[in-house]
Amino acid sequence: MRRCLVVGNWKMHGSVSAVTALVAALKNEISFDSHAEVAVCPPFVFISAVAAALADSGIAWGAQTLDEHEKGAFTGEISAAMLADLGCRYVIVGHSERRSLYAEDDSRVAAKFMAAQASGLIPILCVGENLQQREEGQALDIVQRQLTAVIAMAGIEAFNRAVVAYEPVWAIGTGKTATPEQAQQVHAHIRQVLSCADAAVAEQIQILYGGSVNAGNALELFASLDIDGALVGGASLKSDEFTAICKAGG
Ligand code: 13P
Repeated sequence: MRRCLVVGNWKMHGSVSAVTALVAALKNEISFDSHAEVAVCPPFVFISAVAAALADSGIAWGAQTLDEHEKGAFTGEISAAMLADLGCRYVIVGHSERRSLYAEDDSRVAAKFMAAQASGLIPILCVGENLQQREEGQALDIVQRQLTAVIAMAGIEAFNRAVVAYEPVWAIGTGKTATPEQAQQVHAHIRQVLSCADAAVAEQIQILYGGSVNAGNALELFASLDIDGALVGGASLKSDEFTAICKAGG
């Protein structure tokens, strides 16, 4: 039985005071065992503060990206080992904003996925089509390409310690959520692609949906067979909204 996982991706938002207040509210509202598994992914500079505040809570933390190199002359970058050192459990890789704004291609995403695992982090691998690709009927093919690029490099076994997030680009930050039927179709396809390589791996993996998830649509999305949680952007910055999403998955 897969547990529901709700992850907040704070993107480039917050300040020391805002983050402190948000984490205090979440800690108060989200109890150890009654809800879904919960994690938050702050900007790098706030991870230490979040880690200190959440150390004795049931809420995990992670990062939004990482560099694939172990160490060296990579000015401005952050390695997997550094994130592990801060107690991160998760790291998001291949978010569509990284793919489109920072030109991260499938092979770079796969390298980041492997670097994360080499330091004991759980990568949350994001896949998803843009609006044009959906309108041209290519959604399943695009997602399959993004997924198989990582399977080819990391191997199917690696997916025993990974999470996949389906985030249709047209639903991110737009208020347009995929319908539960649209999301379920892609999630089932993701599980099918993994299953072709290893049925047991496919059965246990958590596949999250992301794209305008909020307190009003979470329950309906989570009711779908292959939707095992959510990767939440905007709504994860509001404690009451995020808590309600976590409760929907509890
Ligand atoms: P929104 O929930 O703001 O649409 O963002 C989704 C997302 O990109 C999470 O990673």
